[in-house]
Amino acid sequence: MGLYENHVVPRLVEFACGMRVNEPQRSRACAGLHGRVVEIGFGSGLNVPFYPAAVESISAVEPADLGWKLARKRLDRATVPIERAGLDGQSLPFADNTFDSALSTWTMCTIPDVATALAEVRRVLVPGGTLHFVEHGLAPDAKVQAWQHRLNPIEKAIAGGCNLDRDIRGLVQAAGFEIRDLDVFYGEGPKFLAALTLGVAASP
Ligand SMILES: C[S@@+](CC[C@H](N)C(=O)[O-])C[C@H]1O[C@@H](n2cnc3c(N)ncnc32)[C@H](O)[C@@H]1O
Repeated sequence: MGLYENHVVPRLVEFACGMRVNEPQRSRACAGLHGRVVEIGFGSGLNVPFYPAAVESISAVEPADLGWKLARKRLDRATVPIERAGLDGQSLPFADNTFDSALSTWTMCTIPDVATALAEVRRVLVPGGTLHFVEHGLAPDAKVQAWQHRLNPIEKAIAGGCNLDRDIRGLVQAAGFEIRDLDVFYGEGPKFLAALTLGVAASP
């Protein structure tokens, strides 16, 4: 990771992803998490207040040191053990079948090889384990999609490699997950950024 990704992007993420408007989506994505949980793209821990009581532990995977530092106040208030257990969702340092649930929020846009990361998540989940996610990505409308494709190079350059136009449902299915719940909708804000895919998918 470069200087910008290490020192600027985590603060942008803390500000933009930390907006109150995202909290209902975080709460919905975290519902049903249980047991041992791996969270990819932990960022500054904005999901910590939303982990349900059934969560036993969180293994956080986050490359940005500053993100982890900014998480301090949330880690101090956490009611479950949380450790920074990995640095890269594309190569998870865990044995097969380690986790009951996985969580990814506004992260599949950014991981360079997200197909590999999803394959890794599937590998480390127990059979029947669930991936919970809320992600921005390819909009359901062609006109918005066209803007997303046009603006994608700018977004990538200024937002730490973030892509506007990834097909989240397609990526999750292509990784072999079975979709259990799915909601595709526009959140608040410009449609090209606020096309959200929220769901739960099970590892077969
Ligand atoms: C837009 S932020 C979202 C952070 C957090 N999930 C949230 O909801 O606030 C994307 C996160 O993905 C992380 N990230 C980037 N590349 C990654 C990788 N290869 N593996 C895991 N996380 C990665 C970034 O450092 C950043 O914290």
